[in-house]
Amino acid sequence: MRVHVADHPLITHKLTVLRDKTTPSPTFRALAEELVTLLAYEATRNVTVVPVTVNTPVSEAQGVAIAEPRPLVVPILRAGLGMLEGMVKLVPSAEVGFLGMVRNEETLEPTTYAERLPDDLSDRQCFVLDPMLATGGSLSAAIEFLFKRGAQDVTAICLLGAPEGVAALEKATEGRDVTLVLGALDEKLNEKGYIVPGLGDAGDRLYGTV
Ligand code: PRP
Ligand code: URA
Repeated sequence: MRVHVADHPLITHKLTVLRDKTTPSPTFRALAEELVTLLAYEATRNVTVVPVTVNTPVSEAQGVAIAEPRPLVVPILRAGLGMLEGMVKLVPSAEVGFLGMVRNEETLEPTTYAERLPDDLSDRQCFVLDPMLATGGSLSAAIEFLFKRGAQDVTAICLLGAPEGVAALEKATEGRDVTLVLGALDEKLNEKGYIVPGLGDAGDRLYGTV
């Protein structure tokens, strides 16, 4: 697994505001969207393109276009939905599939409660969006799901990750073509499985307590 941790003052600045517990939901949502756009720049570095020729007002120009089949963006509901608009803004031709997962807050085990994805993901490049990589259970299950459907490679974009989650994901995806792009790598998980210092419950901060 390739791991890329962002190292950019603008990203760190926006993450700092996101972490602040006094930041209200509307600002939190706007920042999550801006952050994913910045991280998507790195995450799409290896997106498959094909050569194309266009005519400028002056002459022919050689360029590229995003190849078919189009990339698939998969936000993990519910918190990953807060990253969707920022991602499709950067890759408007991408298709979008959905996975709904929730972590049992006692056992920390994830369950999948919704799935709306193409049956056949052969040759597809997939981009999974989830703001938080804590124990890694949810993201590992989501990525395995995509590979079982035939995905070619998977890039996960997370705003924050814990070292425990990165290690678990590395183990779970051994032998797979996986890239992880993180806004920041935090210190640890606490006894409740929350990222420290983290930002709290991303879904609740985006959409309110359920
Ligand atoms: C959060 C988060 C991840 C998961 C991370 O979702 O968005 O999906 O927890 O934890 P893990 O790495 O230990 O699996 P949650 O289950 O709270 O659901 P929500 O998005 O509906 O709030
Ligand atoms: N899920 C969250 O939303 N936050 C954490 O810190 C861990 C899991």
